[in-house]
Amino acid sequence: MAIKNITQKIDMENLPRHIAIIMDGNGRWAKSKGLPRFAGHWAGAEALRDIVSNCSKLNIQVLSVFAFSSENWKRPVQEVDSILNLLLYYFKKEVDSLHKNNIKIVVTGDWEALPKRIVCEIKKCIQRTRNNSGLVLNIVLNYGARKELSRVCIDICKDVIEGKLKVHNIDEDIFRKYLSTKDLSDPDLLIRPSGELRISNFLLWQIAYTELWFTEVYWPDFKPKDLLQAIYEFQQRERRYGGLKNKAGE
Ligand code: FPP
Repeated sequence: MAIKNITQKIDMENLPRHIAIIMDGNGRWAKSKGLPRFAGHWAGAEALRDIVSNCSKLNIQVLSVFAFSSENWKRPVQEVDSILNLLLYYFKKEVDSLHKNNIKIVVTGDWEALPKRIVCEIKKCIQRTRNNSGLVLNIVLNYGARKELSRVCIDICKDVIEGKLKVHNIDEDIFRKYLSTKDLSDPDLLIRPSGELRISNFLLWQIAYTELWFTEVYWPDFKPKDLLQAIYEFQQRERRYGGLKNKAGE
């Protein structure tokens, strides 16, 4: 569908507040063009720029992007290095434009364990954009949901042992406060490009009721029209959260 047609179909009153994206398919995109894998990651960063800008213009509240998983360390060292260098470049180069556009950068995951030069740059970006009130760009880095949930269990146990928390008071709301995403709403829409139909250890607790949307398109080829298509299809879905459409059960 042409971008103009699809834009007209979108209900601006019913946008997802939080969109999450697993940016997948960079390697296959590069291979299909006879390029090295890192070229796919760089092209992926370009695609991200356009999607961030569109989410910001649409007044989406939060965009979470999976940039590096705690399992990605299993990749060859050259590829890990190229992704980390790309992240460094991205944080340095994009911060001015993100700030100008009132975008607030937050980072989720064990990012403080990354090389010092990256940690320093990330801290600067977070600090610089912390008072912005527009789109929250949540860059998910060195993150794995199982690790996060294990860490939450440990932190809860510690607080119980130290008497800060009673076991009988632990419920979903308390649990949520221990998550690294505690200040963000849960994703309403999760997009995974590249034809893979899985979640890959991304925000497992947070996506319990998220609408999932998959496309065959590789991430570097993911364009604003694909984002709009995902939003349009999201708006056609009925979210029941385990309940019924109405009390009569119709
Ligand atoms: C998955 O594609 C992608 C990654 C592991 C890295 C994602 C990183 C970027 C898009 C870089 C830009 C991000 C920021 C925040 C600047 P893959 O390599 O698994 O692709 P494949 O499945 O085709 O091999």
